[in-house]
Amino acid sequence: MSKRARNLRYLRGMAESLGLLPHWSKTERYEALSNRWRALLGEEPNRTANLANAAAVLKEAFDWHWVGFYLVDPVRDELVLGPFQGPIACTRLHKGKGVCAAAWDERTVQLVPDVHAFAGHVACSSLTESELVIPLVVEGEVVAVLDIDSVVRNDFSNDDVMGLTPLVDVLTEHWNAWE
Ligand code: SME
Repeated sequence: MSKRARNLRYLRGMAESLGLLPHWSKTERYEALSNRWRALLGEEPNRTANLANAAAVLKEAFDWHWVGFYLVDPVRDELVLGPFQGPIACTRLHKGKGVCAAAWDERTVQLVPDVHAFAGHVACSSLTESELVIPLVVEGEVVAVLDIDSVVRNDFSNDDVMGLTPLVDVLTEHWNAWE
């Protein structure tokens, strides 16, 4: 069996452990996960553990290049790397520079079809072509951002934002209660 075939089989096996079938579309994957986030994350009181598993589920389900969280560090007024899946990443992101900082500053979703066209984009990996960043807002303040990078240009749409909303809701609802 070729290396590529072995890799495909391995990726399929991982997705199947979540009960997602290999031929399912992105929409079907989001639907299958939508009512499972609460069960997956709601019982564990540790925030780091839940963010780590959320990143693992998204990586398994969608096989994006990089998926993870940057947390607001209120002491340094920066974003600091949190749980993630993918290649080694920048540990600190500064205000006013990059896609994650824009989501933090503006409290809005950043859908970037072509990272090379985004002034100030912070390239943690040269393979990234498009990016989606969703701020996690708790009591009116951004506490963290969910950052997803793809090697495919124009890989994200509003469907991804909608599909990720059930996860974002669980994270923001529990955020302050988690240790
Ligand atoms: N590209 C991001 C930095 C984080 S990495 O993508 C993991 C940005 O511009 O903020």
